[in-house]
Amino acid sequence: MATFEPVLTRNWNVPDARTLKVYESRGGYQSARKALTTMDPDAVVNVVKDSELRGRGGAGFPCGLKWTFLPKDRKETLMCVNGDESEPATFNNRYLLERDPHMFLEGILISCFATRASTAYVYLRFEYINAYKIMEQAIEEARAAGHLGKNIYGTGFNLDVWLHRGAGAYICGEETGLIESLEGKRGWPRIKPPFPAIEGAFRKPTVVNNIETLCCVPHIIERGANWFKSIGTPKSYGPKLYTVSGHVEKQVCVELPLGVTTRQLIDDHAGGVWKGRKAKAAVPGGISMGLLSADELDVPLDFESLRKPGCLGLGTAAVTVIDDHTPIIDYLVNTARFFAHESCGQCTPCREGTGWMNKTIHRIKNGGGRIEDLDVMLHLANNLGIIPGTTICGLADGAAWPIKNAVAKFRGELEEYIRTHQTPGAGPTPLQLDIAAGRKVDLVTIGNAIAAPTAPPPAAALHSPGRPSA
Ligand SMILES: Cc1cc2nc3c(=O)[nH]c(=O)nc-3n(C[C@H](O)[C@H](O)[C@H](O)COP(=O)(O)O)c2cc1C
Ligand code: SF4
Repeated sequence: MATFEPVLTRNWNVPDARTLKVYESRGGYQSARKALTTMDPDAVVNVVKDSELRGRGGAGFPCGLKWTFLPKDRKETLMCVNGDESEPATFNNRYLLERDPHMFLEGILISCFATRASTAYVYLRFEYINAYKIMEQAIEEARAAGHLGKNIYGTGFNLDVWLHRGAGAYICGEETGLIESLEGKRGWPRIKPPFPAIEGAFRKPTVVNNIETLCCVPHIIERGANWFKSIGTPKSYGPKLYTVSGHVEKQVCVELPLGVTTRQLIDDHAGGVWKGRKAKAAVPGGISMGLLSADELDVPLDFESLRKPGCLGLGTAAVTVIDDHTPIIDYLVNTARFFAHESCGQCTPCREGTGWMNKTIHRIKNGGGRIEDLDVMLHLANNLGIIPGTTICGLADGAAWPIKNAVAKFRGELEEYIRTHQTPGAGPTPLQLDIAAGRKVDLVTIGNAIAAPTAPPPAAALHSPGRPSA
């Protein structure tokens, strides 16, 4: 295999690479000039389509193909760039923004030219205030130099780029939640269809792409679709930024060909598992994607291979390592709490399901688990999400996968934990047992008992399931 030459990170260690002067001195904006002055928009779309660039935001949808879904007779197109980056342990977009803002702007420029969008909104995660300031400056520089604004390179093409700070919610990263939030509304995902390409921001045809996806575009224009397809694994082409964190010696963000393995990331780039320990498991691409066990660490991290060990996909390629001193129940406590908190609440299965999972997992953690809880949670996980067709968006699938994988791969450990961590009074209440067993519940009696308690609550009620003890 030819030596891999990083392109997305090529300016990261160059002094002042954020400035336009340095970026241009290293060949910056040449791809944009090439595209705008020597190609027509459809030709740009075709090169990106031929490269088989797949979206880096999580779903891996082919980028060029998505662009062709825009209506042919549209009068206006909008571009929304997804920089919400709220998937836990993911920070590749932040690095791109902070270290090479002009490469990102060049990607926006070429992609907007291709899709005929004259307005681009960059939706940035609320907490990314540093990246916001860096981008503000880069946009100003690019506009002053004629890379943005009116009649770019004398071609008659106009482009304005606007920064928009996010709303501090994970759900605003879902593309239609993002659009609603951008419009000034609550970030509730929309029912699809219509998809954004037909009716997106302000009800106009809209392209939504991730920051890293757009950063690939200048390099595809410069080097061609065949170069891009010479990197990676079948159906997963090109370079990719992987972040590695959790129980490793060194947290890193590295650019590698798609298809590297978790073991290579840990051993060759992150300094190994910390404290000389062993890996028990690893999250392959953000917590929504599930879990790899220690003997699955050689599975290629690409869009196709992760289905074999039962993961949801590559997601954001954010690898989190879990060492062999960490109980799997702790991983579940964190994931369940996150999804219960971030569910937007529109769909009953997601709103109630993530809440119940969270309560059950906390009850197990606190010593009130029952072996049957594992199957009840699996049943719940199997009926939650877009894949079983019960919810509007994929947050619910992301909530289900950690449970599906943890129960399938670590059932023995979880059962052992339940058996050996029984705390008197921490179990389900009689009412919960009645409901779980499908027994008839007299709501009037329960309501009266709650309204007029005759005795102090029993210790079990104070330690209610779902509430970790203080
Ligand atoms: C709950 C949820 C959160 C998401 N968060 C992000 C995010 O932070 N950034 C992102 O690019 N995509 C996120 N996505 C995926 C987007 O909906 C969309 O697929 C993506 O922005 C499209 O860009 P791409 O094709 O370039 O990957 C999320 C999806 C879901 C269901
Ligand atoms: S699946 Fe969950 S997060 Fe997504 S729209 Fe429904 S309730 Fe909201």
